[in-house]
Formats: sequence, structure tokens, C-alpha cells
Amino acid sequence: MRICMIGAGYVGLVSAACFAEFGWRVDCIDKQPQRVASLRRGEMPIYEPGLDDLIERNVRAGRLTFDTDIAAAAAVADIVFLAVGTPMRRGDGHADLSYIFDAVDDLAPHISGFTVITTKSTVPVGTSRRIEQRLRALRPDGEFAVCSNPEFLREGSAIEDFMRPDRVLVGCDDERAEEVMRRLYKPLSLRDAPVMFTARESAELAKYAANAFLALKISFINEISDLCEKVGADVQEVASAIGRDRRIGDKFLHPGPGYGGSCFPKDVSAIIRTARENRAPLTLIETVHHVNEERKLDMAQRIRKALGGHLEGKTIGVLGITFKPNTDDIREASSLTILPILLHDGARVRAYDPQGRKHGEEALPGIEWCDQALAAADGADALVVLTEWNEFRALDLEELKSRMRGSILLDMRNIFRPQDAEAAGLTYHGIGRPQIAGSADAGHSGEPLIQKVG
Ligand code: NAD
Ligand code: UDX
Repeated sequence: MRICMIGAGYVGLVSAACFAEFGWRVDCIDKQPQRVASLRRGEMPIYEPGLDDLIERNVRAGRLTFDTDIAAAAAVADIVFLAVGTPMRRGDGHADLSYIFDAVDDLAPHISGFTVITTKSTVPVGTSRRIEQRLRALRPDGEFAVCSNPEFLREGSAIEDFMRPDRVLVGCDDERAEEVMRRLYKPLSLRDAPVMFTARESAELAKYAANAFLALKISFINEISDLCEKVGADVQEVASAIGRDRRIGDKFLHPGPGYGGSCFPKDVSAIIRTARENRAPLTLIETVHHVNEERKLDMAQRIRKALGGHLEGKTIGVLGITFKPNTDDIREASSLTILPILLHDGARVRAYDPQGRKHGEEALPGIEWCDQALAAADGADALVVLTEWNEFRALDLEELKSRMRGSILLDMRNIFRPQDAEAAGLTYHGIGRPQIAGSADAGHSGEPLIQKVG
């Protein structure tokens, strides 16, 4: 089986390497020459745990190659995957399909023999049909079928998610293509991963519905956490209690500073557009989008309040700017909304992120970057945890406190135990947790004890 993967980003690279690991021969194509050159040198253009070893092993075994030119790879491919970006379109919030159609145009002249063309990118319902029509117009003689094979991997655990998926979903209207796709995923179905075949429209819509539902679950627990703060409940206890109900499930019930990333915000926005266009508005999901936007602004407000209502002349240390841990991706991260507000209000912001700095330096001008987590606390009036990187969990809180000018710790991912923080002399503000009465800070720093932030 020969595979051509178009796009060497988070999804394309991981998928290409994992298919090669199954034993298939994969040619991965990307338009960016510097990306291809670095992959050929064995340097990863993205950070994803375990990806470098997987790629190196498969390149060495001769199963994985990288190129900018699609011609040769497309001509020999049994399957061509489209794994290019489908970002939010400026203006109307719909998915921008220009990269998809450009890739189809690049591909069209080269397909030869029966070829399955399948989207791995997240594309609005009806896109497979549009790709088919476009290809048919470009290659009336072509022997091909177009499928939808949406990808459900998460950044940071992408390889594990790909290798042990809850399900593989293939939208397919063609018997020959179904046979090819079944063969492709045999290594996973042999391991009991369900490989589901549906209509193409169902597969396309299921991807958006899954992300919209997960976004809703996160926004739900974020709102419940606000209520917890008002009534003295602990959101972690509430989440754990409701999560035991198998109808609800315990995943995606961690409150935080709002969901971000390259998928949820844009996919929520795109499904809202699709629904409006089809006169079946998703009012619930429209509210989720609104709640999440407000959430990020509310986090900036909490920081301001914790610092006494104004930020002029204050120094704020920030731990984590990526949208989640174990990635260098900062697309739509809550830091991109929160940190500019802090800077605009006159604060000095010192930030540390284990992998996010490269993109952060471009996207967040005005931030002072630190080389290690402890340094972000130097001279800080408040320290804010925005991303739950594991390395932050083991930080010595007493040392953090001793490096700070003030004592406020805003833990927006609930990674610390409030008791530990208070014992180290910090005034702890978690998310959806009761504040410990008689904060260690209240007595000697002169700062007001904020019983409930927000
Ligand atoms: P990305 O931006 O990281 O990578 C896309 C790559 O495609 C880039 O390297 C770009 O240079 C390349 N490209 C664009 N046009 C090309 C062309 N014509 N020929 C060759 N290469 C081309 O994107 P991503 O995060 O991997 O997302 C890809 C798709 O997968 C999106 O539709 C996204 O919604 C979906 N998805 C992403 C994730 C995720 O966790 N990132 C998970 C599931 C699904
Ligand atoms: C998501 C989907 O989970 C995945 O199936 C899809 O293929 C791509 O989009 P990803 O964006 O990589 O994956 O990360 P995910 O773990 O889903 O987190 C997304 C955002 O939600 C992050 O900002 C994260 O911090 C936030 N989140 C997640 C919470 O705030 N609470 C949670 O309980 C879970």
C-alpha cells in the first residue's frame, strides 16, 4: 500500500509516521521547503512527544520520505490524504477551504490508476462531494473515489491517540474505496479499534459535532466552577461526583481559562456557520462560543481584581502560554487574549513556557521571556498558571514565594493544593475552589485578602 500524505503539520506528520509504523510506504508532501528540509535533516518542525523517534525509525527503514513535489508520490499512491489546514476564514468564521482546493488542484494532474482521495483535515459537510466534482472536472478520465476520514487525535498525545483510537471513522460511498480503507486500517482493527463506515456527510458532520460537544462540556464545567466559587463548593469534587455517572463520563470536566487550540474555536465557529446556512441554528453551541470568549476576558479581570483593581506598575509572572501542555502550539490559546490585556493595562509580564516561546515571541510582543519557571516569579506581584505543564506541579512553592515581590498565586488550572500554597506563604486563588480562610498572606503583606476572586 502506497500512501501520499499532503501536509506535514500536526496531523499530517503524526498520521504519516504512524501509517509508516504499520508498515505502509508513505510519502509526506509539504509546500514549505524549509519544513521539508528540516524533516530530511531529522529536525522536527513541531513539538509532539515521541514524534522524532517514530519518524527517525521509519525514515531509516525506508518507509517514510518527505518532499515538496507531489508528482511522483501522487502517481504511485493508492491513497492520498489531504491533511492541510482548514483555518477560520476571516470575516464570516467559516472554514477556509482554499488550502484543500489548492492541494486538490496540485494533485489532479498526477493521479494514476484507481486512487482513493480522502480528507484527514476537518472539513464542512459536503466538502467530499465538492472535491469529487472538482477532480472530475480536472480529470474526467481519472479513476478515483473521495472519502472522508476525520482525525480525532489530540496534540500532546497524538501518537497514542492515533495508535489507540476510540474509533476510526470513514465516510465512504464507494465499494472499492471501502476495501482500500479497510486494508489501510487493518493493523488497528486487528487491535480491536472499531473502524466505522458511514455516509460521507455523516463522517464530516460527526467530526464537528464531537468537537462542539467537547467544547460544550468544558464550558459547562467552567460555568459550574463559577457557581462553586459563589456557594463554597469545590468544582473538583463536583466534577468527580458527576463524572462517575457513565452517562456523563469523567473526561473533559477540568475547569480552566477557556478552551483554545487549533481545533475547538475554529470548529465551533464553522459548525455554527453550517447550521445557520442550513436554517437549523445550534443555539446551544452559539452560547458555548460566547461563554468561552467571555471566559478568557473574565480571567484577565480576575488577575486585575486580585492585584487590587489596577495593573499599572505591577509585575506578573506567567507559567505556560500554550493552549495545553506537551505542545508548542499557541493557536487560540487563552494567553493570546489575557496577556495583551495585562500589558495594555500597564503590567510588566514575565513568562515561561517549556515549548511555547518560539511562537510566543512572534505572537506576544512586549513579554519578557524567562528560561526557567522559577525565573518567572522574580519580582512578581502575582504569579499566574495558564497551562498545566507537568514540570510546574513539582515547583518548590517556598522558593517561588521567596523570589516574588508579592504573594498572589492565580492557579487557573488547579495544579497546586491550596493548603500547600498557603503553607508557603502564598495567597492562593484556584478555579472553582473555596478559598482557605485566614490566608498566610493577609497578615504581613498588607494586601487585602480576597475571599472569592471573580
Ligand atoms: P498545520 O497548520 O499544522 O499543518 C498544515 C500543513 O499543510 C502545513 O505544514 C502547510 O505548509 C501544509 N500545506 C498547506 N497547503 C499545502 C499544499 N497545497 N500542499 C502541501 N502542503 C500544504 O495543520 P494541522 O494542525 O495539522 O491541521 C490540519 C487539519 O487537521 C485541519 O483541518 C485541522 O482542523 C485538522 N485536525 C487538527 C488536529 C490537531 O490537533 N492539530 C486534530 C484533528 C484534526
Ligand atoms: C481537540 C480534540 O480533543 C481532538 O479530538 C481533535 O482531534 C482536535 O481538537 P486538542 O485541541 O489537541 O484536541 O486538545 P484537547 O485536549 O481537546 O484540549 C483543547 C482545549 O480544551 C485546551 O485549551 C484545553 O486546555 C481545554 N480543556 C480540555 C479544558 O479546559 N478542560 C478539559 O477538561 C479538557
